[in-house]
Amino acid sequence: MEDKQDTQKVFDSIASHFDKTRKYPWKEVEEFIKDLEGRILDLGCGNGRHCSVAVDLGLDIIGLDASFELLKIAKQRCPKGGYIKGDARDLPFKVSSFNGILYIAAIHHLKEGRVKSLKECKRILKPGGKIMVSSWSRESDRWDLPEEQRDVMVPWNRDDGEVFDRYYHLYTLEELKEDVVRSGLTIADHFISGQNNYISAVNEG
Ligand SMILES: C[S@@+](CC[C@H](N)C(=O)[O-])C[C@H]1O[C@@H](n2cnc3c(N)ncnc32)[C@H](O)[C@@H]1O
Repeated sequence: MEDKQDTQKVFDSIASHFDKTRKYPWKEVEEFIKDLEGRILDLGCGNGRHCSVAVDLGLDIIGLDASFELLKIAKQRCPKGGYIKGDARDLPFKVSSFNGILYIAAIHHLKEGRVKSLKECKRILKPGGKIMVSSWSRESDRWDLPEEQRDVMVPWNRDDGEVFDRYYHLYTLEELKEDVVRSGLTIADHFISGQNNYISAVNEG
């Protein structure tokens, strides 16, 4: 898929600088992880900042990402995790393989197949398994866009001056909720915090 290759190239190119700017886990994610147990997938794990939190809590974590360069950084940061290069829309795992999924700040990079990726999450979650999905929020003050515009390219200014455009689908919380429901997952909680939408959901089977 073309957008997969583009996203992968961009994140590979900015990986080292990106890592310097993503040192700390988000408190909303830490709060969610506390209630998890067993085998967890960090989908779009980036530099592994949330994998470390999971390992510290004794969870068994697998990180999957499209960017090989970010996976290398994640492996260095959190060597106890297992890491796989892959696509969030076509997950290389069997039905009911995970107790929980973190899908943080990654779904908004998919130009297509966002519901497909959520359906994949449902497929690989055990019955009763939990997922947190987050995205940048269309409701944030930072966007000054025409009413209906949802798709934007946002520049990343690398520390050496080179600029890379990243695709974002700007979800409203309502639209993200609709996509989660369309995947068959059941929403447990939803909120906006800072510039992000957060939804936690359960696979009720
Ligand atoms: C903004 S980063 C967030 C990383 C991490 N979840 C965090 O909270 O720090 C988005 C991540 O999604 C990954 N990504 C984008 N499209 C993807 C896809 N189709 N499949 C898997 N990972 C993808 C990128 O490579 C990048 O690591």
